[in-house]
Amino acid sequence: MQISIETRPAATLDTEALVSYVFEQDDSIQGAVAELDRAAGGALRKLTQSGEITGKALETTLLHSVAGLAPQRLLLVGAGKPEKFASAELRRVAATALRYLKARSVKRFAVLPRENDRSAAAAQIITEGLLLANFEADKYKTENKNHKEVEAVALAGWNEAGRGDAERSIERGRIVAEAQNFTRELVNEPSNRLTPRVLAERAEAMAREVGLQADILDERRIKELKMGALLSVAQGSEEPPRVIVLTYAPPQPRPGAPVIGLIGKAVTFDTGGISIKPADGMEKMKYDMAGGATMLGVMRALARLNPAVKVITVVPATENMPGGRAQKPGDVQISLSGKSIEVINTDAEGRLVLADGMEYAKKLGCTHLVDAATLTGAIVVALANVNVGVFGSEAALTQRVLASARAVGEKMWPMPLDDDYREMIKSTIADIQNVGSGKGGGAITAAMFLKEFAGDTPWVHLDIAGTAWLDEAKPWAAKGASGVAVRTLVDFVMRFDEDAPAA
Ligand code: BES
Ligand code: MN
Ligand code: ZN
Repeated sequence: MQISIETRPAATLDTEALVSYVFEQDDSIQGAVAELDRAAGGALRKLTQSGEITGKALETTLLHSVAGLAPQRLLLVGAGKPEKFASAELRRVAATALRYLKARSVKRFAVLPRENDRSAAAAQIITEGLLLANFEADKYKTENKNHKEVEAVALAGWNEAGRGDAERSIERGRIVAEAQNFTRELVNEPSNRLTPRVLAERAEAMAREVGLQADILDERRIKELKMGALLSVAQGSEEPPRVIVLTYAPPQPRPGAPVIGLIGKAVTFDTGGISIKPADGMEKMKYDMAGGATMLGVMRALARLNPAVKVITVVPATENMPGGRAQKPGDVQISLSGKSIEVINTDAEGRLVLADGMEYAKKLGCTHLVDAATLTGAIVVALANVNVGVFGSEAALTQRVLASARAVGEKMWPMPLDDDYREMIKSTIADIQNVGSGKGGGAITAAMFLKEFAGDTPWVHLDIAGTAWLDEAKPWAAKGASGVAVRTLVDFVMRFDEDAPAA
C-alpha cells in the first residue's frame, strides 16, 4: 500500500473516497470539514443539524457523489470529544476509515486531517493507523479470500514546505507499523506451523534481510550452557527448543555504553504440561510466544531506525507439552544462573524460560533488561484486556517505559513489586518455587520470580497476557494478534541514549 503526501485542495481530488473526521461538540462542522461543507453547499451541516452525524467516536457516515466535491465518496468518521482527542484517537480514526473503505472495495482514497493534525508527527500516526488496519489474518483461507486491497492512500492538506518532513514521517510510520504487523503475523501462526525451530528460522531470515547479527542456539548448545530451567520445560516435547539471539550494534559504539537486553517469552504452545490446562480455549495458547515475537518485531524496526544504543534480544523458544519425559510437579531444576527452582506447577513455565533468557542476556553484557511475556492469567483479572501490566526493579527505568507507552498510544499500567511478595515464592527444598503460595497476586508473584533472576541489573517486565490478543475484531483492527508493546519498546530504545553524542 502506497502512502503519499497530497498538496492539492482535497475537494478537487479525483479519488474514490475522501476521509475526514468530525468531533462531538456543539458545532461539528469546523475547520477542514467546514471547507468541505462550503464546497458542498452546506450539505454536511444539514446532516449534523438533523442529528444523523453526531461525531461520536468511530461513528461512520458514507456519502456518495456529493455535489461540489470531486471525490466519488466522502467518509466522515466520528472523532469523539475534542478534549479527549490525542494521537491514539487519530491513529484509530485513520485505521477505522481504512477498514471501512477496504470492506467496500475502495482501492484509492485520500485522508484530510484537521489543520492541527497536518504535522510530520501526525503523518507518522496516520500511516501507522492505515498499515495496522490493513493487516488481515487470512493467510490460510483458500476460499472466499476476498482480494480487496487498498492500493494507495494520499494524506491531503499539506503544503509544499511540510512535504519533506511529512514524507520522512511516513517512512518512519511504515517501519514501525510493518514491524508490529511482522509480530502479529508470527503470533497468529498455529503451533504446528510455528515450532521453536521454525520461529528461529523466521527470525534468522528477518535478521539477514534487515542486517542484524543472529545466533541461534540449538539443543546441543542450550545443554552445554546448562540452561536447566528452559530445558525442563522443553523436555516434555518432541520438538527441540531454540534460543534466538539477535544483536543490533550502533554505527559508533562507545566503550562502556549501556546495552539493552530484550527478552521475550516464546512458548509456541502451552498445554500446561503435566499440570495440564482445560480443553476449553486451549487453542488460544498458540499465542504464548507473543513476547518473543514482540521482541523480534522491535529488532526489525530498530535495524532500520538505527538507534545510538546497542540492543541484544534473547528469545527462548519451546513448547510446553506433557510428554513421557515431561517434568513433574515437585521437580527441582538448576537454572543457568545456578539458582535451584522447585517446579510446583508445570504450567508456570514462562518464568522458567525467561529466567534462563534473562541470565543469558546478562552474560552477553546487557546492562538493562526488558522482558515481555504472556505470563499470567492473573494480569487479565487485574487489568482485563485493556492495560499491559508493568513491573520493574528501578523506578527510573520503569517510568521510561511508561512514558514511551503514553507517547505511542499504548495502554500500560504500573504494578507493585514489594519485597513482601518474596515470601510467597519461598521453597522448602530449593532456592525458589515457581508459583506463589497462598491466594492472589499471581501476576506479582510471577514478576517477583523474574526479579530474582534480574538481580542487580535494572529490569522492567511487561505482562502482555491480556493485551497481546484481540478476542473480537474492532472497527480499527482484525481479530487475533495485536502486536502490543512493539511501538512502546521501539520508542523506548530510540530515546534511551538521548544524551549520547550524535552518531
Ligand atoms: N501462558 C500462560 C498465561 C496465560 C494465561 C496467558 C491466560 C494468556 C491467557 C502461563 O504460562 C500460565 O499458564 N500461567 C499460569 C500460572 C499459574 C500456574 C501459577 C496462570 O496464569 O494460570
Ligand atoms: Mn503455562
Ligand atoms: Zn505460558
